[in-house]
Amino acid sequence: MSVAIASAVILTTAAAYYWFINRHKPLKHILSELKHTIDMQGAGVGGLIDDWVNVWRNKVVLPDASGKIAVVTGGARGIGTEVIRGLLKANMTVIIGIRRPELAQKLSQTMENGQNLTAFQLDLQSLKSVKQFAENVLRKHLAIHILVNNAGIMFGDYKLTEDGIENQLSTNHIGHFYLTHLLLPALKKGGTFEEPARVVNVTSCAHHPGKIYFEDINMKEHYDTTAAYAQSKLAQLMSARYVNRLLEQEGSPVKCFAVHPGIVNTDLFNGTLFRTVFPWAMKLFFKTPAKGAISIHYACFNKDLEQKGGLYISNCVEGISNGFSKNVENQKKLFDISCELIGVEPNKFGKDI
Ligand SMILES: NC(=O)c1ccc[n+]([C@@H]2O[C@H](COP(=O)([O-])OP(=O)(O)OC[C@H]3O[C@@H](n4cnc5c(N)ncnc54)[C@H](OP(=O)(O)O)[C@@H]3O)[C@@H](O)[C@H]2O)c1
Repeated sequence: MSVAIASAVILTTAAAYYWFINRHKPLKHILSELKHTIDMQGAGVGGLIDDWVNVWRNKVVLPDASGKIAVVTGGARGIGTEVIRGLLKANMTVIIGIRRPELAQKLSQTMENGQNLTAFQLDLQSLKSVKQFAENVLRKHLAIHILVNNAGIMFGDYKLTEDGIENQLSTNHIGHFYLTHLLLPALKKGGTFEEPARVVNVTSCAHHPGKIYFEDINMKEHYDTTAAYAQSKLAQLMSARYVNRLLEQEGSPVKCFAVHPGIVNTDLFNGTLFRTVFPWAMKLFFKTPAKGAISIHYACFNKDLEQKGGLYISNCVEGISNGFSKNVENQKKLFDISCELIGVEPNKFGKDI
């Protein structure tokens, strides 16, 4: 009885506090934000359970990929650093796109085959920067074998980029969508039908509660940072599926995958309540970045995936993904809007101009 009363008091106090700090907002926005927050916590708990149950599946054999080229976004920290470490270990030449390329030298000194790492400046919040990065890559390499769209941000205040795109959508989806478009001609040269080139979008189980705000993709009408992260991660998953479909239709030797790396203890959680209140729990229960990289390496190298383009992978198996993401009409709608945002006609996506 006393536990029930204590729980009721805590819940009522939390609800009153939540209402108080959001009291300037219309009730419908308070309620929808609360719903998104609860749904996101649910997706996170589901992700943690998935990681614990399937931890034993996280295995990958790194092949000898000498002479092959990989491009990775981000990587000066977090999961990306471990992704790069593995690609270098597999004897690949690795080009990373990071905001501060001067960090790459220190990074390469800590890695086996670090001499095979090159960095160019990339800011995914600027289409101009993405174009410049792609040009730098293509100047050095006409053929590419793997593109890992890893960099990302989570939550934060509302901000439009210089291109007028909502910040999380720009960093997580649109910047990568544009980069994929620009590098696809080189990926098509790198792939063969026996060994297709691969595009790996690092998405998240946070796509589950997401939807695409087709009528207001930049969320100008009402910004909910949790819903914006979910939208951006859902968009990465949907575009992996749709672009893979287009490539199959045109008979190109490139496959696209979407990977949830697991719930990983990285700086992505900086500023969240979880990091502030339970930092010890993150150390205890979350994956390390090295473990988070395993499913991404699996998507890059596993032979059984060669004919399974479009797959959503979690813990090195097909993961459960949201139904909305599988609907081809939804995928096409998002693809067309994304093309509009990068200023490319849909029928010219990924083609030599
Ligand atoms: N950690 C998790 O539990 C988790 C779960 C599911 C999915 N993911 C996904 O995994 C990916 C990697 O995340 P992480 O956990 O490794 O996070 P992280 O440690 O915060 O690393 C994020 C990386 O993205 C880069 N980045 C951010 N904004 C950028 C921009 N505008 N232009 C270029 N690079 C930018 C950062 O570079 P700077 O150093 O310059 O900031 C950094 O290298 C993200 O896509 C994330 O959504 C993570």
